[in-house]
Amino acid sequence: MGAIAAEIAVDPGRVESDLWALAALVEADLPGWTRTALGPVDREARELVLRWMADAGLETTVDGAGNIVGRLRGAGATGRSLMVGSHTDTVVGGGRFDGIVGVVGAIEAVRALREAGRELEHDLVVVDFFSEEPNEFGLSCLGSRAMVGELTAEHLGLLDDRGRTLADALAEIGIDASALLGAHVDFSGVDAFLELHIEQGPYLEQQGSQIGLVESITGVSRFRALFTGRADHAGTAPMGLRHDAGCAAAGTVLAVERIAGEGVQTRGTSGQVTFTPAAVNVVTARADFRGEFRGPEGEWLRQAQEQLTAAAQDEGRQRGVGVEVDWLPLQEPAPMSGPVLSALAGVVDGLGYSSSRLFSGAEHDAAVIARKVPSGMIFVPSHDGRSHCPEEWTDLVDVTAGVTTLTHALLALDQQ
Ligand code: GLV
Ligand code: MN
Ligand code: MN
Repeated sequence: MGAIAAEIAVDPGRVESDLWALAALVEADLPGWTRTALGPVDREARELVLRWMADAGLETTVDGAGNIVGRLRGAGATGRSLMVGSHTDTVVGGGRFDGIVGVVGAIEAVRALREAGRELEHDLVVVDFFSEEPNEFGLSCLGSRAMVGELTAEHLGLLDDRGRTLADALAEIGIDASALLGAHVDFSGVDAFLELHIEQGPYLEQQGSQIGLVESITGVSRFRALFTGRADHAGTAPMGLRHDAGCAAAGTVLAVERIAGEGVQTRGTSGQVTFTPAAVNVVTARADFRGEFRGPEGEWLRQAQEQLTAAAQDEGRQRGVGVEVDWLPLQEPAPMSGPVLSALAGVVDGLGYSSSRLFSGAEHDAAVIARKVPSGMIFVPSHDGRSHCPEEWTDLVDVTAGVTTLTHALLALDQQ
């Protein structure tokens, strides 16, 4: 044990039972532990979080973007606050820890502080951000983007595979598009933002570290490419006379891998390719392809965009296939705040946990909030680095170390 006495008791049993209660809320017809933001179960999860926040003594609201927000008034009455949170939605076929560790952890930090009689000077604002994972429209971090005022009518007009707009999909779950656009927050009184999260990669395990302190969060660039060819008979259309949209898309899938494979921390993923008609004996007339690049440098992402657009056009040209590549607004890499990182490092050392600093290849609400507020992230190890899959696992002892770090970090930041 380090120099910080752990007189503030985080309750591992309570953390575990909250994690399992949230994780159990899944879409039964989908694989793994699925709770998509626009699906039928996510609302139940956010309502549960709302109840927990109220029970923990927070003043709760649901903002226009569906974010669940709880405020614990500080003793200082200064109007200044600290913000903390993460998300409760999951990817399809995801695991039980991504996002909810940070939401459960933040609420547990409030309980632990109150039970220890430790009142902060700052208000403490806990947020369960709506829709962090990329949805059917390819858009991630809806709730945090709405908070920083970054969502536009263009985002709301994005289409899914069924031709539905994002605004319509939100209306179906009771979120009004105009309220979403108006949900921005004045961050001038917020002194720091913290997010606790699982690492989702193998680094901490490899280093034997209990805690990860994030130095920066990856930039992300997502695209949708539409290839328009011609349907023909699979048995009679000669190979040289085809306009096969599927082959043009397949060539572009490989280009994503090649472009990203040339860097070190750069990543490229072809997440979704849909062929129409989906029939074994018809040449593909239309391919709808969504993918992304990630990396620690915005300049590399811009180059990757140009290279991929050129590669897609080349694949189309070779086959007489039309190509349209649309890029979503690029998310720049997000450095975490130096002073917040130093405060976190002091706390981790004081608590006697082993730690490593690292780059996050996963995106997070913290990357969005960091555009307005000095931000920091605390990571806990992921077994075998697995995440976005049902096998995702973090030991309770590590989750507890993360929650303990978060709790003491709030105290440290409160004093600054
Ligand atoms: C979110 O988990 C992401 O990195 O896609
Ligand atoms: Mn995720
Ligand atoms: Mn996450």
